[in-house]
Amino acid sequence: MDAGDLGRDLDRVLISEEQLREKTKELAKAVDADYAGKELLLVGVLKGAIMVMADLARALHTPAEMDWMAISSYGSGTKSSGVVRILKDLDTDLEGRHVLVVEDIVDSGLTLSWLLGNLKSRGPASVEVCAMLRKPAAQRIELDVRYVGFDIPNEFVVGYGLDYAEKYRNLPFVGTLAPHVYSS
Ligand code: XMP
Ligand code: MG
Repeated sequence: MDAGDLGRDLDRVLISEEQLREKTKELAKAVDADYAGKELLLVGVLKGAIMVMADLARALHTPAEMDWMAISSYGSGTKSSGVVRILKDLDTDLEGRHVLVVEDIVDSGLTLSWLLGNLKSRGPASVEVCAMLRKPAAQRIELDVRYVGFDIPNEFVVGYGLDYAEKYRNLPFVGTLAPHVYSS
């Protein structure tokens, strides 16, 4: 499947399936090296992180449990507000755990910043972040994201878990959405 199959809504493929696969291996290697001898708790942020989580978890050699949170940042359309509400909390007690937050994208960083504060207050041994995508030009808050797949331009992207109005999450690549789709 490529952008052409999707009609007018997608502008172009930004990161291919192959690039995602290679990057996942690299990220997993770095995580394995850093957590040798430890056990991880992977915390995926629903729904965007589903693909990154599924692929990264399978590429890791480090023993890892998976848990999920669903959060919503109040705000409309394609902009984050940083005001966050927990829709589904973790089932796992974080006390003493090595937590790795698995994210699809760090955009303004406001959602993640709130999430890190929340998780750190639960007594984990450590909290780090692995995000497949990051938009440096959009970042509005200082954040230490230890593992980053790709720095991308400040454009709205879909695919590989990322949606526009719940569509396109199942695309195996990351593509940019044509501006007419969300600006009209
Ligand atoms: P912030 O701005 O708080 O982003 O770092 C929070 C969440 O917003 C979503 N997001 C996007 N979703 N294409 C998407 O489909 C994008 O370009 C995009 N930018 C942000 C995403 O869920 C992120 O965790
Ligand atoms: Mg997300």
